[in-house]
Amino acid sequence: MAVIDVAGLTKKYGGRRQTAALTSVNLRVQEGAVLGLLGENGAGKTTLIKILAGLLVPDLGGGRVLGFDLVRESRAIRASVSLVAPTADVGLDNNLTVRQNLVFWAPIYGLYGAHARRRIDELLERLGLRDKEHAWPMHISAGQRQRLALARSLLAENRLVFLDEPTNKLDAEGVRSVRTLIADLNRQHGVTIVLTTHVMEEAEELCTEIALLHAGILIRHEETRALVRSLNEERPIVVEIAEGSSVAVPLADSFPAAVRVEAHPAPGGSGLALTIWSRDIPATTPAVVEFMRREGLEVRRMTSERLTLDDVFRLAARPVEEDAR
Ligand SMILES: Nc1ncnc2c1ncn2[C@@H]1O[C@H](COP(=O)(O)OP(=O)(O)O)[C@@H](O)[C@H]1O
Ligand SMILES: [Mg+2]
Repeated sequence: MAVIDVAGLTKKYGGRRQTAALTSVNLRVQEGAVLGLLGENGAGKTTLIKILAGLLVPDLGGGRVLGFDLVRESRAIRASVSLVAPTADVGLDNNLTVRQNLVFWAPIYGLYGAHARRRIDELLERLGLRDKEHAWPMHISAGQRQRLALARSLLAENRLVFLDEPTNKLDAEGVRSVRTLIADLNRQHGVTIVLTTHVMEEAEELCTEIALLHAGILIRHEETRALVRSLNEERPIVVEIAEGSSVAVPLADSFPAAVRVEAHPAPGGSGLALTIWSRDIPATTPAVVEFMRREGLEVRRMTSERLTLDDVFRLAARPVEEDAR
């Protein structure tokens, strides 16, 4: 079932000097997907998810979200989806502790008694806020407040969740816990997720599909691995093997998405290295690790150059005939 099915979404802001934030966006998202909306600042990501969450009315276009009409039933949409904005922590009450904020919101989202307590405990635990549950919001870090805001909107247990730059202000540990939570929500609870990011690595890790927004135009929307491979960009994974090891150089087709394997002296001088050229580093890497383990090779160092958002847009915007070479 398509939980999002919209067409022709167009939105302009402002009076006389109007900027087109979105132009004729068509989008279909099936239940159970994790869609990453990727684009640089100002690409229209926030505008698009506000429209899909029923918070903003498009100038043109329409469609359905969770079966409700985007324009005529926006109230029903707002009541059925969660949206966590980058500024969501503004809505926290500073006179209530971390836990009390969640206790306050639980009945608003229809959670009472033991059920509410269990859900709050679970969210505090998963978001790494357990040891801060009795702290005041102004005494925790910006990243922790962002996680609290996320916990608050997840109390609702909606089937469709919009996350606007969910890991933006977080430190490495915060990024890890939020990404794990997003993956669990999707895999264990079947929640459909639409998130925005300008970090390609995040989209590759979390998203089953990716939509590329550039200047308000949705230029591509594909399954993540298919999109990455279609960019046709070969990138190296360099594995340095401990001195004294010998290795029969494996064929490229031992690894998914690999195009060739080269053996050469390690960059530092001593020992041996393999460079595996890949069109999809996240797909190739586990097979390389498994190969090293199976061959009993001691890996000294493994490095890879992942795609950046700039790479993706540069490659995706490339003329078609260049691909065919
Ligand atoms: N409330 C607003 N008033 C006027 N212009 C806006 C408003 N919100 C966004 N814009 C403009 O619309 C475009 C898209 O913005 P936005 O959807 O926030 O992009 P993103 O989330 O990808 O950074 C930008 O050019 C931005 O300056
Ligand atoms: Mg934005």
